[in-house]
Amino acid sequence: MILVTGATGSIGRYLVRRLQQEQAPFKALVRDETKGRTLGCDFVVGDLDDADSIAAALKGVDRLFLNAAGAQPVSGEQPMIRQQKTAIDAARAAGVSEIVKISVWHAHEGGRLAEGAHWQIEQHLKASTPNWSLLQPSGFMQNFITGAGAFTDDGKLVGAYGDSAVSYIDCHDIAACAAVLLTGSPGTGESYVLTGPEALTQAQIAEKLSAATGRTVDYVNLSPDQLAAALKAQGLPPQFADDVAVLSEEVATGSLATTTSAVLDLTGRAPRTFDEFLADNREALRSGPVSSDG
Ligand SMILES: NC(=O)c1ccc[n+]([C@@H]2O[C@H](COP(=O)([O-])OP(=O)(O)OC[C@H]3O[C@@H](n4cnc5c(N)ncnc54)[C@H](OP(=O)(O)O)[C@@H]3O)[C@@H](O)[C@H]2O)c1
Repeated sequence: MILVTGATGSIGRYLVRRLQQEQAPFKALVRDETKGRTLGCDFVVGDLDDADSIAAALKGVDRLFLNAAGAQPVSGEQPMIRQQKTAIDAARAAGVSEIVKISVWHAHEGGRLAEGAHWQIEQHLKASTPNWSLLQPSGFMQNFITGAGAFTDDGKLVGAYGDSAVSYIDCHDIAACAAVLLTGSPGTGESYVLTGPEALTQAQIAEKLSAATGRTVDYVNLSPDQLAAALKAQGLPPQFADDVAVLSEEVATGSLATTTSAVLDLTGRAPRTFDEFLADNREALRSGPVSSDG
């Protein structure tokens, strides 16, 4: 039996569908019972901030898909670190034999935000069980629907990546990789950097968004300092804004510009292009942040 955390999220929704299609035995962990009912699968209600609820959810489970919210700090700390360590400890106590975890590309010691937080969780995972798999994705194409891809109120795409490209990946493909790992032979400690099939600049993304939505989406490039100032002006914590700016500087040097063959190697299928992603998500795009009247 597989337990899917983050089942209502960008990756989890695809994973639930994929496991249903494969008739794999699984249940979803949800915080909100109403959301659980909309998934159309078995679910348990629990919260990664409540260790007892996770221990209860793990009864009868032998494989865990570990994913939850991102790296936004609360009162100066990243809850993700505590929450995922809690889940890993509960899984060990429950005798779970394998954990497949969503991490991030370039997770490393001392890294800012998600890069440092995931590195800490990765170390905890590796010390807890030999049967782990780490999926380390590039930026999600879904960011351009959820708004994590940074749009202004009037629908302009903003960023500080300059002319550097990013090999964005469709969460559909991340879920497909997770499904393979969760239903195949138990992993024995492998990390997979997952990317889409091509790297695109923000200007190219804006052009594609324009074509897909039928309205002009301009790209506004900011310096890292301007980006940090804009985030602070929106009320985000200063340290968080500064960390985002530093991460943007890394991306501007091309840190996410290459592609890997991991999706093809794991699933036997090439990852989806940005055009395929746009075609599949036309309706969501029309009601998302990019839809605002410019
Ligand atoms: N976005 C990117 O470009 C990117 C790139 C690489 C890696 N990542 C990593 O991908 C992961 C997912 O990020 P995301 O922002 O895309 O996630 P997301 O789609 O917003 O999904 C988050 C999921 O976690 C659940 N969740 C949140 N807090 C929880 C808690 N306390 N207990 C149980 N479940 C909880 C949410 O449930 P509810 O429905 O109840 O809210 C939701 O199902 C993060 O670790 C991030 O660092 C992101």
